[in-house]
Order: sequence, then structure tokens, then C-alpha cells
Amino acid sequence: MKILIIGGTGSVGSHVVRELLARKADPVVLTRSAEKIKSLPAGVEGVVGDLLDPGTVRSVFKSVDGVFMITAVSTTETHEGLMAVNGARMSDVKRFVYMSVHNVEQAPHLPHFGSKLPIEAALKKSGIPYTVLRPNNFFQNDYWFQDALLQYGVYPQPMGDVGLSRVDVRDIAEAAAIALTASGHEGRTYNVVGPEVQTGKSTAEIWSRVLGKTITYGGNDLDAWEEQSLSRLPAWMVFDFRLMYEFFQNNGLKATPADVDSMARLLGRAPRGFEDFALETARMWNALSLDKEK
Ligand SMILES: NC(=O)c1ccc[n+]([C@@H]2O[C@H](COP(=O)([O-])OP(=O)(O)OC[C@H]3O[C@@H](n4cnc5c(N)ncnc54)[C@H](OP(=O)(O)O)[C@@H]3O)[C@@H](O)[C@H]2O)c1
Repeated sequence: MKILIIGGTGSVGSHVVRELLARKADPVVLTRSAEKIKSLPAGVEGVVGDLLDPGTVRSVFKSVDGVFMITAVSTTETHEGLMAVNGARMSDVKRFVYMSVHNVEQAPHLPHFGSKLPIEAALKKSGIPYTVLRPNNFFQNDYWFQDALLQYGVYPQPMGDVGLSRVDVRDIAEAAAIALTASGHEGRTYNVVGPEVQTGKSTAEIWSRVLGKTITYGGNDLDAWEEQSLSRLPAWMVFDFRLMYEFFQNNGLKATPADVDSMARLLGRAPRGFEDFALETARMWNALSLDKEK
């Protein structure tokens, strides 16, 4: 079974590739970079192309049975996703799994949430057997905060006090591989969530426990977050993410018990918890720093 992975060089897609290899499927990764093809795992085909290029979308879906797609956060996200849905419509794709975002219709004003709604709608109307996965905030985003945690003792993601049902990227990838290779998931939309709700403060407490030092929550000051973020992210993205954090602080992004049950049924086991992820990450950072000292 040949499966095209759009986003297969990124955070979630690279895990989807591994999950598909473990299930004996044949992953094909679309990337804009010939260089990145060289570092794909053995047995994975790479194709250079771009979702904004009509030539790519007319050709890349032709010989595949299934598609997993993420659409990267960009100012052309909707256009890219709609190009892909059309490419799949022109071909004989039998499964299309699209990764959207949890509770997307509650916050359509957020550019990178609202951008996904027309893609979901087009896919659902396309006639292609589809599954939509709607994940919560990723545990693995915390890799970005390694320096803040280890050097300054601060957890800087301003996620607020209501809470998020964050999820491990490996569980999203496993859910995607199941939806692509097993039957019974066509026409379904799944909220892809972790087992518990964490706030900014409870997340800092977990990092304190696993790192064995005090980690303080950086707080909910979005002016300060915006000022710091503008030095490393483009202004349109900072604007978008600030609105998202405002939404998180006011509403949270919480799973229902039914969402958690459905996730466990989909995976055939409970989803991974945040403290286990943080412990694993702390051990990895520790091992890397010991290696550097050698
Ligand atoms: N972070 C979170 O907490 C979170 C939570 C829920 C949902 N999401 C959603 O997750 C998505 C991002 O997933 P991710 O973090 O796995 O992605 P990522 O690591 O940012 O990687 C982006 C991927 O998209 C590919 N790509 C970008 N533009 C492309 C184009 N024009 N044509 C073909 N491929 C293109 C890139 O491929 P090349 O660079 O190799 O070309 C790369 O593989 C976003 O839609 C975001 O809203 C994120």
C-alpha cells in the first residue's frame, strides 16, 4: 500500500512515516527540498514538489493508494490544502487523512485554525474516503523551551489557567497510521487528545519534578510574549499565535471524557501522559549534555 505523506519531513509526518514502515506500508514523502530526501529513512521514497505548484498536484497523487496531509502554518495554508484535495480528486486515492486542529470551529478567527476549515469542508465533499484528525497542542512543542527551562528555570508557553488536553506527537502519528491502514475510520473526525488537562502552572510543576529544580510558569502576559517572540518569528505568525494564546487563556482547549475514550479506542491503549513525556525528555537532555562533556 503506497501512502503519500505531505509534511513527512516535519514533526508529525516524520513519525507517521515510521508508523507506516512498521505496518509494512510503502511511504512516499513529498518535500520541497532535494537535500531532505537524502535523510529519509531507508525504504522511503522521496518526491520533490510543492503544493503550490500545479505540476506537483497533478502528478504526485497519481500512483498512491492513500494520503496523509498536514498543512504547514503559512499565509497560503488554505490554498495549499485545497490544491492537494483537488490533486487527490483527479487521482484514484482511496484514503485521505487530514490533520486539522482540535475544536477548530470554536476559534475560526485564528488564522491557522480558520485556514483549515475550508480544507476539511472540501475534503468532506470530495467523495474521497477521508478521516480528519484534530489534535490538541503537541507535547513536543516543549522541545523549543529547552533553554528557557534548563538555563532560566522558566516555562514560557503562555497557555493560561483554564487548561489544554495536550497530546504526544507519536500518538497522533499512530492514530494517522491506523486510520490509513485499518478499516472503519472512513468519514470519521477524531479529536486527538492526551489523557489529562494541564495549565501553565501545572506544566511548570511537572517540569520542576522531572528536572529536579524549580521551574516557574512565565505567566499570561501576552505583551511580553509578543515582544520576545518578534525576535525569532515572523510578525504575521506572532499575531496569529498571540490570538491563539488569548483564546487558550479565555477558553482553554479541553477534551471531554468521551474524546479521551474515543482516543483510547482508536489507539487500542490509553494515550501517553505529559509527565511520562517530560521525564523521557529530561533524561534525553541529560544524556545529550553528558555526551557533550565527554
Ligand atoms: N504545534 C501544535 O501544537 C499543533 C497542534 C495542532 C495542530 N497543529 C498543526 O500542525 C501543522 C504543522 O504540523 P508539523 O508541526 O508536523 O509541521 P512542521 O514540522 O512545521 O513541518 C511542515 C511540513 O510541511 C511541509 N510543507 C510546507 N509547505 C509545503 C508546501 N508548500 N508543499 C509541500 N510540503 C510543504 C514541509 O516540507 P519541506 O520543508 O520538507 O518541504 C514539512 O514537512 C499545522 O497545520 C498546525 O496548525 C499544530
